[in-house]
Amino acid sequence: MSINDLILSPAKPFLKWAGGKTQLIPEISKRIPFNSNQSFTYIEPFVGSGAMFFWVLRNFPNIEKAVVNDLNIELICLYKTIAEDVEPIIVLLHQFEIEYHALTNDLEKKSVYFYSKRELYNLRISENTLQSALFIFLNRTCYNGLYRVNKNNQFNVPIGSYKKPMICDEQNLRTVNRSLQNVKILNTDFEATLDEISDNAFFYIDPPYKALNKTSNFNSYAKNSFDDKEQIRLKEFCDKINLLGHKWLLSNSDSLDGNLETGFFDTLYSDYTINRVLAKRSINSNPNKRGLLNELLISNY
Ligand SMILES: C[S@@+](CC[C@H](N)C(=O)[O-])C[C@H]1O[C@@H](n2cnc3c(N)ncnc32)[C@H](O)[C@@H]1O
Repeated sequence: MSINDLILSPAKPFLKWAGGKTQLIPEISKRIPFNSNQSFTYIEPFVGSGAMFFWVLRNFPNIEKAVVNDLNIELICLYKTIAEDVEPIIVLLHQFEIEYHALTNDLEKKSVYFYSKRELYNLRISENTLQSALFIFLNRTCYNGLYRVNKNNQFNVPIGSYKKPMICDEQNLRTVNRSLQNVKILNTDFEATLDEISDNAFFYIDPPYKALNKTSNFNSYAKNSFDDKEQIRLKEFCDKINLLGHKWLLSNSDSLDGNLETGFFDTLYSDYTINRVLAKRSINSNPNKRGLLNELLISNY
């Protein structure tokens, strides 16, 4: 199957992910510097659940080359396992779904089931198929669909309160499998994606957001947090793409909203185009702080 065929298989993100971009897509898509007939190389160095990536695959059938990357080993192993052979994952997820739904009215047994799967996942001794099915199961059933690990890389999100969550979306998993066939999937630091540049490259860059304040934000997807030093290293990466003559669009939090340091990104990206758009923040430990906030869309065009 070629990238051209992807328009026939509209894959959607198969995970919930902190910072998932689904609701920002209308704003981001308006700013993509190519039209749907053009051919270009699409590179996403922080793919997460790939909301933008799957949208781009659906809407730009002439993409020449697509590259996705994330530092999260488990996440990328999941993408690769789905790309290689999705059917055994579907079989396992079906089984989990039947077993879990059968416990809907018995909260205690449901909880025992969830925590036994979490424990098995954290042992990391299962082969990739089972480990992938456990990842999706936990993502569908845990609190808020968060992925959070402690210092020992143990997934520690508690059970969620969904009554009958959909655990096995087999149709979407099959279309995701097909749509990943010609995609290069990497598990490395964002800087290494520079090596993937070819003609007409466009980077959509969605890093862990800068914390708006010390307690409200969620940016620990993995063991290491993405601090201001990392934000500065990322800006230098953007400069490199710029010097090579390629295009990038970056999303981040608007640090003005936190009233901490005024305009961290306004200063850092003063050579580039900065737009503010309204977006709904859903991952916040304090429900009162979920709501509309400005987000930044910064580009070199
Ligand atoms: C804001 S999320 C991306 C969300 C994504 N756009 C979506 O729609 O789900 C940021 C991602 O960056 C990854 N990450 C953190 N540090 C990284 C690094 N140094 N290089 C590459 N990826 C990194 C995290 O694992 C996380 O998945």
